[in-house]
Amino acid sequence: MDFDALLNEIKPNKIEKQKVESLADSMIDFINNLAQKKGIQTEAILVGSVAKNTWLSGNADIDIFLHFPLETPLADLKEQGLYLGHECIIFMFGKSEERYASHPYVTGYINGYSVDFVPCYLIEDAEQLKSAVDRTILHTHYIKENLKENQIDDVLILKKFMEGIETYGSEFKVGGFAGYLCELLILEYGTFNKVLKAAASQWKKGLIIDLENFGTGGIFADSLIVVDPTDKKRNVAAALTTHKMAEFMVAARNFLKCSTKDTTHNTTNNLEYFQSVTYCNDLDSIKEEFADNGTKTFLIHFNPPEIPSDAIYPQLKKTEMSLSSKLELEGFKVFKSSYWTNESNIALIILEFEVWELPNYKIHEGPMVWDELHQERFLNKYSYGAWVENDRWKVQVPQKNNNAEKMIEFFLKPENIHHLKIGKHLKDEILKNNVITDINEFLSSENVSKELLEFMDDFLNPGKNLWR
Ligand code: CTP
Ligand code: MG
Repeated sequence: MDFDALLNEIKPNKIEKQKVESLADSMIDFINNLAQKKGIQTEAILVGSVAKNTWLSGNADIDIFLHFPLETPLADLKEQGLYLGHECIIFMFGKSEERYASHPYVTGYINGYSVDFVPCYLIEDAEQLKSAVDRTILHTHYIKENLKENQIDDVLILKKFMEGIETYGSEFKVGGFAGYLCELLILEYGTFNKVLKAAASQWKKGLIIDLENFGTGGIFADSLIVVDPTDKKRNVAAALTTHKMAEFMVAARNFLKCSTKDTTHNTTNNLEYFQSVTYCNDLDSIKEEFADNGTKTFLIHFNPPEIPSDAIYPQLKKTEMSLSSKLELEGFKVFKSSYWTNESNIALIILEFEVWELPNYKIHEGPMVWDELHQERFLNKYSYGAWVENDRWKVQVPQKNNNAEKMIEFFLKPENIHHLKIGKHLKDEILKNNVITDINEFLSSENVSKELLEFMDDFLNPGKNLWR
């Protein structure tokens, strides 16, 4: 298949490249001059996809790392690194935002670009590693040394394909393939087509890719293991979920089927895989689809806690899973459940029920009749209506929370919330303020954003990302 037209679109042209590179150069010069003036022992360098030439046009996120000698105390590295980053952002008239990965860094929004300033230690070997970000310089060298000029195009095509099918990005929100992982896949298989062919027909759960033959793949228990060629103790695919690995394999199969069809019909509609999915954001059709399911859907919405994005999503997921399994234990049946947040003023958990009402009574099991003491206690509590079935006591007791809404309310009360496995920050927010609403009420009364409607479409019709 001919990717020239696609590459024309996604490969930065000379002008764009020059613009990004000269912006990066001037920031690096500024930092290095200021560091020298202030006697700070550091050097700023360009890393990440801009340094590797593997960034997608229109998408340059510039990664500038400030490396300090290994003997620098961590407190100094943090303080001086953040200081230099902030000063550079001020100099460039940008806006800054402090973030925390495994340690603090600062992001600047400068001339329409997002620039990360990350302090790290200068290491020559992963054995010297002090923090996870220290590997990045080693990664940049490895890719620059090993990725051939013509393979850069394959990386770009693979990244764009991953974006189109929504499997790109190692942040928790996605749980997909990191940029560095895409580069390593191209090194392993050679070309974009070969990566897709392997994923479509050879990949098995627990596959090990070990470019440097370290032989350490066995220490990891993930679905995909890509031993970091710069650090034998790290799996580059550790953040990839089984779900996203599976989606990539399925989309690869669909894409390849579509391109064999294309050659016979002489059309090229599989280029659509490189474009993002169009989701429906029409309020009435979303409402109709929920009604058509014949299910009952509740939303719990609250304010998202002010914590980094990579901390919110795991907490939302944990809460959704815990709530849904508790409701199932009580006898309700969950059809589907999910979560969503705009990371500013709304977070929600959505639960769609197959069974949302229970009878007024439930059967409660008592002790065995062989146990006289416990029988005594049981009968003291349930003097009426208890009976013996085989050799066990049973009793019919009222089901207080006999519909799903009441049961959710019960679990979210301060005195009952301990029944749920729920992250601390989220718990605080939910206890401060939460609203449980029926989907119809929610869709009719709230100011529902386009993004939220698109999420609802994805919730109702999962898997749109896998087909074109
Ligand atoms: N990195 C990593 N593992 C991750 C995320 C990042 O090892 N899960 C390292 C890689 O060395 C990566 C660098 O951090 O190159 C910068 O991260 P990021 O900007 O996310 O990746 P890029 O390679 O720059 O890809 P792009 O920005 O084009 O998505
Ligand atoms: Mg980057």
